[in-house]
Amino acid sequence: ETRIIKNICCIGAGYVGGPTMAVIAQKCPHIKVTVVDLNAQRIADWNDADLDKLPIYEPGLADVVAEARGRNLFFSTDVDKAIDEAQMIFISVNTPTKTYGVGKGMAADLKYIELCARQIARVSKDDKIIVEKSTLPVRTAEALRTILTSTGNHVNFQVLSSPEFLAEGTAVTDLHKPDRVLIGGDADAEGQAAIEALVAVYENWVPRERIITTRVWSSELSKLTANAFLAQRVSSINAISALCEKTGADVDEISRAIGADSRIGAKFLKSSVGFGGSCFQKDILNLVYLCQHFNLPEVAAYWEQVIKMNDYQKHRFAKKIIDSLFNTVSGKKIAFLGWAFKKDTNDTRESAAIYVADELLQDRAEIHIYDPKVRAEQVFADLEYLQTHRKDAIHGVSLTTDEIKNLVKVHVNPYTAMRSAHAIAILTEWDEFKIYDWQKVYGQMLKPAFVFDGRNVVSKTELEEIGFHVYNIGKG
Ligand code: NAD
Ligand code: UGA
Repeated sequence: ETRIIKNICCIGAGYVGGPTMAVIAQKCPHIKVTVVDLNAQRIADWNDADLDKLPIYEPGLADVVAEARGRNLFFSTDVDKAIDEAQMIFISVNTPTKTYGVGKGMAADLKYIELCARQIARVSKDDKIIVEKSTLPVRTAEALRTILTSTGNHVNFQVLSSPEFLAEGTAVTDLHKPDRVLIGGDADAEGQAAIEALVAVYENWVPRERIITTRVWSSELSKLTANAFLAQRVSSINAISALCEKTGADVDEISRAIGADSRIGAKFLKSSVGFGGSCFQKDILNLVYLCQHFNLPEVAAYWEQVIKMNDYQKHRFAKKIIDSLFNTVSGKKIAFLGWAFKKDTNDTRESAAIYVADELLQDRAEIHIYDPKVRAEQVFADLEYLQTHRKDAIHGVSLTTDEIKNLVKVHVNPYTAMRSAHAIAILTEWDEFKIYDWQKVYGQMLKPAFVFDGRNVVSKTELEEIGFHVYNIGKG
């Protein structure tokens, strides 16, 4: 008979833990859900009476939090207490690429996961189901189990893998209507019972046929594979965009033509300045590292190419700007529309904008940034971070904090960002960019006025009629 879960704890109140638990609490009023984090500011923001201050911007999220918070959804820094009370513990902490030691620059850094496991092992007094929500290398559950059972406290731990597939910007709809929920567990009776306990939670709003159950290793590896396939589609269409520019073909027309084939499908074929986000690159690097570890160099090289193509696309865009502006952007004002890695999110992790900005800064451009959701501190933090984590592949020198402060300005008004600019670069596909008064923008810019549309969001013909020189991705 299925164990009824009444108390859930989630460790990690980030982009995954926050929205995922808010929706579980919303859909399961009979379950007490406590989200905990070491970051006291983040927890305070989740508890802020002003819902505009939530630490994450996601369409629809504030309503979900408003409905459940204080009823059966709680945010706290008391990790021990939440672990102790919970029957089921989700681990949603970050798993960034390692920046040191063995596997540096490739493998997932599991130190936060390990700390969680040790804390759970230390605190637990009764049986618990542990759910891996973070994206993890295949066979991490085994390591978790070893740590959990090492204290000899006779607590029975079941470890499930239930990776999250939500995309930022659409997190709430993805959670409300997931294509599927994936739950991996052990084949034995106890493992199956744990799977059923989690199935019962999701069944409160997800149809049973959309809940896929597998063995643990398959579930872990499915997550890395899903992200690798999605990123691969973007790199594939971006590779074709370069060929389009040489041949006069139009990449959007190609996407439409090939996407109509139901075997290919229409989604994820939008050519861009390159994919960003905290996960695609991290997860592919992790996959590549696993392949190397298991001595599969051909497989590793195959997937690594997806990242190389993405680096090429970002570089190609920056180079296009410099080449078009008569081979130098030194002292020139370039306005950036968008800094987030995609629209409808305030997340900037691995955003293509950061890398394009860096290349232009290497040439001493003045960059004026406007993004409807990203704050100035975040922009500067992103640029600073890149200086200290510069990849060998990107040529260039590290800029000092003062140099960045002198060359970069962040605006709260798009028109002031674009005033007196030599060129505009569109880095994020925010809808509002389409409805700007482009005639007014043109009037305030230096001539010749350039627009480099890295997302193909504005109309090339309309802008050319006004007088702009327009570059689009993948349009010959
Ligand atoms: P995040 O950085 O936004 O949040 C992680 C949180 O965990 C942070 O607030 C951090 O303070 C907290 N934390 C770390 N160690 C802790 C500890 N020992 N105790 C308590 N709190 C701790 O990360 P995220 O974007 O939510 O991603 C989390 C995981 O989910 C990653 O593995 C990621 O790959 C995966 N994932 C992310 C997304 C996404 O859209 N961002 C989607 C699917 C899967
Ligand atoms: C992605 C996956 O879509 C989620 O399923 C997964 O859960 C998540 O990673 C994760 O594991 O973190 P996310 O990165 O939030 O979600 O957003 P996406 O919509 O996938 O976009 C990723 C990047 O690819 C963005 O920079 C986006 O602009 C770019 N992209 C996407 C394109 O350039 N073209 C497209 O056609 C689609």
